[in-house]
Amino acid sequence: MTEEYKPPALPSPFTNTTPAPTLLVQGAEAHLYKTVSLDPSIPAALKVRPSKPYRHPILDRRLTRQRIIQEARCLVKLVREGVSVPAVLAMDWEGQGGEESAWGGAWLMMEWIEGPVVRVVLEQWEAWMKKHATALDASQMPMEEDRVRGLMKRIGLTIGGLHKAGVVHGDLTTSNLMLRSPAQGQRQETGLAASAVSMEGEVVLIDFGLAAQSTQDEDRAVDLYVLERAIGSTHPRSEQFFDSVLLGYRESHKGAGSTLKRLEDVRMRGRKRSMIG
Ligand SMILES: Nc1ncnc2c1ncn2[C@@H]1O[C@H](COP(=O)(O)OP(=O)(O)OP(=O)(O)O)[C@@H](O)[C@H]1O
Ligand SMILES: [Mg+2]
Repeated sequence: MTEEYKPPALPSPFTNTTPAPTLLVQGAEAHLYKTVSLDPSIPAALKVRPSKPYRHPILDRRLTRQRIIQEARCLVKLVREGVSVPAVLAMDWEGQGGEESAWGGAWLMMEWIEGPVVRVVLEQWEAWMKKHATALDASQMPMEEDRVRGLMKRIGLTIGGLHKAGVVHGDLTTSNLMLRSPAQGQRQETGLAASAVSMEGEVVLIDFGLAAQSTQDEDRAVDLYVLERAIGSTHPRSEQFFDSVLLGYRESHKGAGSTLKRLEDVRMRGRKRSMIG
């Protein structure tokens, strides 16, 4: 017998929002809704961290609160520094309301980024290549590869901007990178691309739940390494273009060279660890 899925209770005031927020993603830690902010024509992303019933209520409240405040603090700082992240619109960490009297959770409302996550873009591109690569002519293949290289380079530039601002992400995967779709009429890509998977748009970093303030080469290099491993395991056909991430990164700020040197050590340790098992 399957029970009908019931999403967790929304915190107040979102129980009264019309139209009701729609649940997009339910992770282990957070639920992501699409809703509106002030005006029904302004879309917004609502990240809710429900309380964890198995934790002691006082500890739980403190941890939930800490993480959402940490995330909001990073976003506010990064927007100010001109790094491409969603702006913070509102938040609450008191954990009042909802349908349960002692809700205990916290939420963060931010700017809605219209566009796909990079994971989906690369998945679509790889699927397309798998099917059509043999039919591409001599000029189309390098052009397709150049588009991926271009995307990778922009990712590297964006991560470099983040690090330059004194923040490390802590969980760089292709699900935590989005591509903000250009406004209608602003599209640059010509009809020349064979695969029709668009790679246009500004790279936007999301999900700062594990981010930290740091300017250490080690922390920065680990950020890059985590992304390298994530791309290697999720997007095997795109892994060969990861070098372009580092190319963009190198151009992004003055300290990049020493971080990239450190990345060699981090990779070495990673290899040793996987040899031991
Ligand atoms: N500002 C936004 N605009 C549009 N979509 C978003 C936005 N923020 C998140 N999303 C979508 O929701 C998904 C989940 O968001 P996010 O990565 O922040 O949560 P999470 O991975 O569950 O969080 P955590 O790892 O902190 O527990 C993203 O992969 C993306 O598809
Ligand atoms: Mg995420």
